[in-house]
Amino acid sequence: MATTSRPRAPAPPRRSRRALSERPRRRWWLVVPLVLLLAVLGALGWMWWSSLVPSTYNVMEMGTTDFGGGPAHEHGTGSERSVAELTGPASGEPDVAVELAATRGRFALASGEQVDGYTLNGTSPGPAIEARQGDLVEVTLTNVDVPDGVTLHWHGVDVPNAEDGVAGVTQDAVPPGGEHVYRFVAEDAGTYWYHSHQVSHAQVRGGLFGTLVVRPPGERAEQDVVATVHTYSGRRTINGRTGDSAVVTEPGRPVRVRLVNTDNGPLRAWVSGASFRVVAVDGTDVHGPTEVTDERLLVTAGGRVDVLLEAPARIDTSGGAALVVGPRGTRVAAAPEPAEPVDLLTYGTPAELSFDPDDADRHFTYEVGRRIGFLDGKPGFWWTVNGRLFPDVPMFHVQEGDVVRMTIRNDSGDVHPMHLHGHHAVVLSRDGVEATGSPWVVDSLNVEDGATYEIAFVADNPGIWMDHCHNLDHARDGLVAHLAYAGVAEPFAVGGDAGNAPE
Ligand code: C2O
Ligand code: CU
Repeated sequence: MATTSRPRAPAPPRRSRRALSERPRRRWWLVVPLVLLLAVLGALGWMWWSSLVPSTYNVMEMGTTDFGGGPAHEHGTGSERSVAELTGPASGEPDVAVELAATRGRFALASGEQVDGYTLNGTSPGPAIEARQGDLVEVTLTNVDVPDGVTLHWHGVDVPNAEDGVAGVTQDAVPPGGEHVYRFVAEDAGTYWYHSHQVSHAQVRGGLFGTLVVRPPGERAEQDVVATVHTYSGRRTINGRTGDSAVVTEPGRPVRVRLVNTDNGPLRAWVSGASFRVVAVDGTDVHGPTEVTDERLLVTAGGRVDVLLEAPARIDTSGGAALVVGPRGTRVAAAPEPAEPVDLLTYGTPAELSFDPDDADRHFTYEVGRRIGFLDGKPGFWWTVNGRLFPDVPMFHVQEGDVVRMTIRNDSGDVHPMHLHGHHAVVLSRDGVEATGSPWVVDSLNVEDGATYEIAFVADNPGIWMDHCHNLDHARDGLVAHLAYAGVAEPFAVGGDAGNAPE
């Protein structure tokens, strides 16, 4: 009916004879760019396709095998010990027993501000765990309602592998309503911290962490203060407080301040009103620490620095929050940030190492770069390890007892706090300059852009261990490798039913 009133489609323009006769020639001109375009698209497609990370995979299948110049060995021989068997003591009454319940949601910082994030037993930082050296520590983690699941990693504590708390590597993520028990002996005194290692870039930033301090036997003369520095939703805090926090001291008693950096970037801190000594780094005592004035400290992301000082004093941090240490009512004016850093390469006095790094069994290179490419199908400017993009990164293979040297180089345009699980390493040199101070023992090392560090450690803790950047956004973006021991099998998988996502 309405067909007659419908406007007519315009007639297609007629091609002239001339245009038709020119077509073959034009086509020839088109062939070259077309072929090029197809070649480029094909190459991009292949790069995209080959960058895809399977939805579930075993980290042992990742990347390239690197024996560091030492003897090769096989995995999957059938006679290996499983990661899951490498637990702490299964029996025995714990000396320290803690229950931690993880939740997600809005909560109040100690200084009152409301933030969105994660808590343990309703607070962030979570409960401060304290132990004596040699104590059997038992932590029962329950996940109340964190949808992605949770774990707890004992950052800086060289626990047995199965207690390491890495989702998809040493356990499955604990689902809402689930529970996991960690048991380990606190063998080394020092300042440590714990945090979730499931979707860690979001959960740690959001508050799913706390501190663990292991004290040596006997009474200590000094007053002990933990200062955990964290940024919640853009607010820099110390122990969950923005602004200045007061630490009330007893007159005449020296104070040990344990600075813990739980953020993604390096923390600068400086002391006003008193001199100080750097007495420990990453849980290891400094040998022969000397008095410092007018120098700033650098605390690596994930790292810890203990300072000993006499009140009154004030500790400022690069992000704004400060600690005022002294008798009630103490005021100390903030000095400007000193230009000179305390350089741990030369600080303190040398001491004998327990092993000879010059007699190494393996030598690895961990070189961080950056390039354009596809990461799991996403185009971008991504971190590389030894020139390759995740998951095509090295798997560092060792045997128990090996002395291992590792050269860490950074040419990526950004700083990377490199963290090896389960081990402590001694820094041998920086940019070719040998370390001459106290043995500088780390689990978290701030590798500046353009820097080269040589470190060494003893492979004395069998397992499959993460070795990654502790800027957790970088880890999420593929800055992750692993150290694998001969004779150890990996039963867990990233992804899978548990939705394991360590980074
Ligand atoms: Cu603080 Cu892989 O961890
Ligand atoms: Cu990084």
